[in-house]
Amino acid sequence: MGLYDVSIIATGSHVPDKVITNADLEAMVDTNDEWIRTRTGIRERRQLGEEETVTDLAIAAAQKAIEQAGIDINDIDLIIAATFTPDLYFPPLASMIQRGIGAKKAVCFDSNAVCAGFLYSLVQGSQFLQTGAYKTALIVAAEGITRYIDYTDRNSCILFGDGAGAAILQATPRPECAQGPTTGLLDFDLGSDGSRVDVAFTPRHTAPKSWLDTLSNRETITPYIWQDGRAMFKAAVNGMTDSLKRVLERQQLDASAIDVLVPHQANLRIIEAIAERTGIPAEKTALCIEEYGNASAAAMALAFDKWMRLGKVKKGDLVMFTAFAGGLIWGSALFRM
Ligand SMILES: CC(C)(COP(=O)(O)OP(=O)(O)OC[C@H]1O[C@@H](n2cnc3c(N)ncnc32)[C@H](O)[C@@H]1OP(=O)(O)O)[C@@H](O)C(=O)NCCC(=O)NCCS
Repeated sequence: MGLYDVSIIATGSHVPDKVITNADLEAMVDTNDEWIRTRTGIRERRQLGEEETVTDLAIAAAQKAIEQAGIDINDIDLIIAATFTPDLYFPPLASMIQRGIGAKKAVCFDSNAVCAGFLYSLVQGSQFLQTGAYKTALIVAAEGITRYIDYTDRNSCILFGDGAGAAILQATPRPECAQGPTTGLLDFDLGSDGSRVDVAFTPRHTAPKSWLDTLSNRETITPYIWQDGRAMFKAAVNGMTDSLKRVLERQQLDASAIDVLVPHQANLRIIEAIAERTGIPAEKTALCIEEYGNASAAAMALAFDKWMRLGKVKKGDLVMFTAFAGGLIWGSALFRM
């Protein structure tokens, strides 16, 4: 196998029509629009309709990316779906996408790195392409998190929303004189700390309660998203900042070299803190948290697609992705467009 470079040739996204505004949440829990906006930067988020599925969102986002890329459906040889909220335990969401779009030749699997899922899947997909194993990959991040939200818990229900985002990666032979990748994935930093699984989690209903109590050191376990908001906030700021800096240092790049920052969209104050600590200015930061909240793996994909469509990501740009997730899991990935 030779070495190949990777290009992100297209993106797409799709969200449900149903909107949950801050005013809607005021009617459900003791909160208010001003608190939510100033503490999180979120104005509204989307929610799956009763008959709508994560699979529907994923297929719609994938189809938009495929249309934009102008590729033949049979060119797709790999589909990776990033999600922690698939409609089925199995088959994987990626197989459902394959069926929906008719990409008969694709190899399909899911990848669960929770909120860091899109970033991890971009890295995985790029590596399959860089080795020459596959030529065209479809990466889709899709979530239906509102199905796992307790709408009496103001600590979590204000944050999360549903949506899907997709990207198409394509391999091209690397120029012979090149020392390393000239486009696509240039470098990445991934990490995990499993000793902190209890900072944020959502139990499956099949897990024995006694085991969950031990795991989380708590007595009340519900089938909804649970998080220690403050601990997550702190860990996210430190985790993404440190990871991003490691990539910059290894690449001997100053923060000013980054053209676009695509961070996970969990809380605007987390994103602002990362921008401030790394020296990447706010105007270079892709955001969609105001309109979609935290859509977990899909959040970063939605922000990236928004900026691609606005023409804010140009050929040759250096794009830094950075994400943080329950696990704890974190990562940063540097791409040349
Ligand atoms: C959850 C989060 C929004 C809470 O914001 P915060 O600024 O840390 O707020 P705190 O928990 O310190 O609470 C501050 C005050 O606001 C109150 N408060 C908390 N949630 C509130 C809400 N939705 N509406 C109104 N008041 C609220 C608290 O009770 C507290 O009141 P007190 O000072 O009288 O005790 C924030 O911590 C966060 O975004 N964390 C990261 C979450 C994340 O990334 N999750 C992904 C994991 S999967």
